[in-house]
Amino acid sequence: MLVTLKQLADEAAAKDYAVPAFNIFGYEDIIPVIRAAETKGAPVILAANIPAIQHMPLAYLAPLMLQAARSASVPVCVHLDHGKDFEVCSSAIEHGFSSVMYDGSQLPLEENIRRTKEIVDYAHERGISVEAEIGSVGYSDPSIAMKHQLSDPDEVRQFVRETGIDAVAVSVGTVHRMETQEASIDFELLERIQSLVDTPLVIHGSSGVPDDQLRRLASARVAKINIGTALRMAFGQTLREEMEQKPKAFDRIGLFQRPMAAVQEAALGKFTILGF
Ligand code: G3H
Ligand code: ZN
Repeated sequence: MLVTLKQLADEAAAKDYAVPAFNIFGYEDIIPVIRAAETKGAPVILAANIPAIQHMPLAYLAPLMLQAARSASVPVCVHLDHGKDFEVCSSAIEHGFSSVMYDGSQLPLEENIRRTKEIVDYAHERGISVEAEIGSVGYSDPSIAMKHQLSDPDEVRQFVRETGIDAVAVSVGTVHRMETQEASIDFELLERIQSLVDTPLVIHGSSGVPDDQLRRLASARVAKINIGTALRMAFGQTLREEMEQKPKAFDRIGLFQRPMAAVQEAALGKFTILGF
């Protein structure tokens, strides 16, 4: 069933688990992620980022995500990941998304607040949730020009108070697109943030977080854990193996079977670590 981020996040923040938000790019990862969630009886967030909607425009991807959500036996949030402006966030909402992330993390605080608030007003009028980021989770790839800056607890407090967002993404030691689990979470910083704000917290770049730290995050007031790279690696590496083992194969329906199973397996593992 389709649910909003707020419906999932408030409960997850209060309980000893966190809901994974998996980046999906099409049918081949939407279905394995939903199957993993149903196996666990767990809620899940399908997160479409900008490259995903550039590859498969919202007019195609949104109905696919919404169909998967509505026919699932578990609660599913259909979410826009890292929306960079009002147009893309409002377009996702018009296409039926139940949640959007506006990412103004590269902007000065006041401008981030102003733009986030505009989207909150638009989304909340329509019953849709909003996540936004303060501080900035950078990228492990130096060619991506994004600043990396830990969140300042006082700024997080001001940001949530002045925007009214439903979940806040904070920078506490992760970096996007790590291919090994070597990140180190600053739990002291996380606790200082938690002592100042009630809003559920979101951690981006979680493919790089070691399992024991992921578990600890899930028991804290973290409600949403974003995971992209780990699943993309499971799909891509298994597809490469499959093609090496079957050099004459060209039928993608056959070639996609093992990679899809690998995505399901990887998602299942993350659910277990996150408390399901
Ligand atoms: O917004 C998406 C996530 O933060 C994914 O990060 O690819 O490093 O797991 P990741
Ligand atoms: Zn992210």
